[in-house]
Amino acid sequence: MIVLKSQREIEAMQKAGEILASCHKEIAKLIKPGVTTWEIEEFVEDFLKKNHATPEQKGYKGYEFATCASINDEICHGFPRKEPLKEGDIVTIDMVVNYNGALADSAWSYAVGDVSPETDHLLKVTKEALYKGIEQAVPGNRIGDIGHAIQKYVESEGLSVVRDFIGHGIGTVIHEKPDVPHYGLPGKGPRIKEGMVFTIEPMVNIGMYHTKMDLNGWTARTVDGTYSAQYEHTIAITKEGPIILTEQ
Ligand code: MF3
Ligand code: CO
Repeated sequence: MIVLKSQREIEAMQKAGEILASCHKEIAKLIKPGVTTWEIEEFVEDFLKKNHATPEQKGYKGYEFATCASINDEICHGFPRKEPLKEGDIVTIDMVVNYNGALADSAWSYAVGDVSPETDHLLKVTKEALYKGIEQAVPGNRIGDIGHAIQKYVESEGLSVVRDFIGHGIGTVIHEKPDVPHYGLPGKGPRIKEGMVFTIEPMVNIGMYHTKMDLNGWTARTVDGTYSAQYEHTIAITKEGPIILTEQ
């Protein structure tokens, strides 16, 4: 069942989204060679506390951290760690913020110092793919229109879209209906309606789209070792179209 949200519920999620967006803006200033994702994790915990918010991912299905920090060939659900980031790396920081019981979810990929032209292309295309998906999130369209727009664009740029992890409805729990794949066929899937709130979060790989799971049972990485990027927003559907609740 897809739960439709009232304007009040959407406004509450927007407050969580504002905190999350300002946290990402601070993270952008911290990312440089030598910094560890453990330091980012501690920064986020502290930032949320100061803003009277809590990290919803911590404790979710046994996940132990406020953030996911996925480096280079890691696609998602990387663990924050004490290993310094190096020039040329990319890192995706993903988190869910809880503010007074309302949630917002946003991931952002960051370049560490100067990155190769190939990596820079990956970052640009992945971010653009997110916005091409959001454009399709209008009442009357179908969920498949979102994934189709993303896949068509990403593949036209010679990159691939991950299938094994998808966007999702979100409200007072992290994962609700609808499922939001970042690939697929136009005109398929549930009709998009006013009051829906969901994430769009394409993960894009330079090489093959396939994933493999680390022994920790959480971290997914590319099978061919190529880099993977991700940009994620939480959006609410209104009569006039989508509002991005986590826009920076
Ligand atoms: N933020 C993630 C998403 O975009 C959810 C992470 S689940 C966790 O769907 F357990 F890793 F926290
Ligand atoms: Co997320």
